[in-house]
Amino acid sequence: MPETVVVGNWKMNTNLGQALELAAGIGNQLKNMTGVQVVLCPPFPFLSSVGGALRGSAVRLGAQNMHWEDSGAFTGEVAAQMLQGLCEYVILGHSERRQLFGETDELINRKIRAALSHGLRPILCVGETLDERESGKAKTVVAEQVRRGLADIVDITSLAVAYEPVWAIGSGLAATPEIAAEVMSEGILEVLRELYADAGSEVPLLYGGSVNPSNIGEFAAQTSIHGALVGGASLQVSQFVQIVNLALAAKSPPAS
Ligand code: 13P
Repeated sequence: MPETVVVGNWKMNTNLGQALELAAGIGNQLKNMTGVQVVLCPPFPFLSSVGGALRGSAVRLGAQNMHWEDSGAFTGEVAAQMLQGLCEYVILGHSERRQLFGETDELINRKIRAALSHGLRPILCVGETLDERESGKAKTVVAEQVRRGLADIVDITSLAVAYEPVWAIGSGLAATPEIAAEVMSEGILEVLRELYADAGSEVPLLYGGSVNPSNIGEFAAQTSIHGALVGGASLQVSQFVQIVNLALAAKSPPAS
């Protein structure tokens, strides 16, 4: 059974003061959390300060993106080796990167390889658009994103995959847990098993898209969903802490 993972993607939000307050609030409340990996992904300039605020807490740190090259003339970009030692995780292939910044599966694949070679844990994001869903292509689109994103990658032990249907992101319109679970088991898990046999079953699969304290329990109750990638609700301490606690409760119900 893959580990339970809950990731907060702050996107391009917060100033330094807000980032520190948010990290301290979440870090304190989840200080001794066990049974779930909690990861905060602040904007690049705040990684170091947020890392400081999380010191002594079980909460981990992640970046929201990175470049695939190690160094060079890539103005404005951040390399894996710069993140190494600073954070543990990196979100790659987020739909906002794909849609707004033209990232292709091939670029994302290069980024994943660079992340792995520097000991970072990639969170590969996949998901279909509304058009693709309406034309019945959701599973094939997602399966293809997984296949291409992982092309020529042999070791996936530190990988997580997040299924974020584009139409559910920031819309308040989450997928139903059944729809998400179906795409995740037939579009993602099946491909991972086909490519990596048993190791494929150990990859944590996260759902993302309008996750909140009211719906996380139903998502996390699905066998093929092992956690969440949370946007808006990760910007509020109480909402995010509730999401983490509810995800954990759904994944490890008390013995009766
Ligand atoms: P929301 O939770 O705001 O819909 O964002 C989801 C997301 O894109 C997380 O990466």
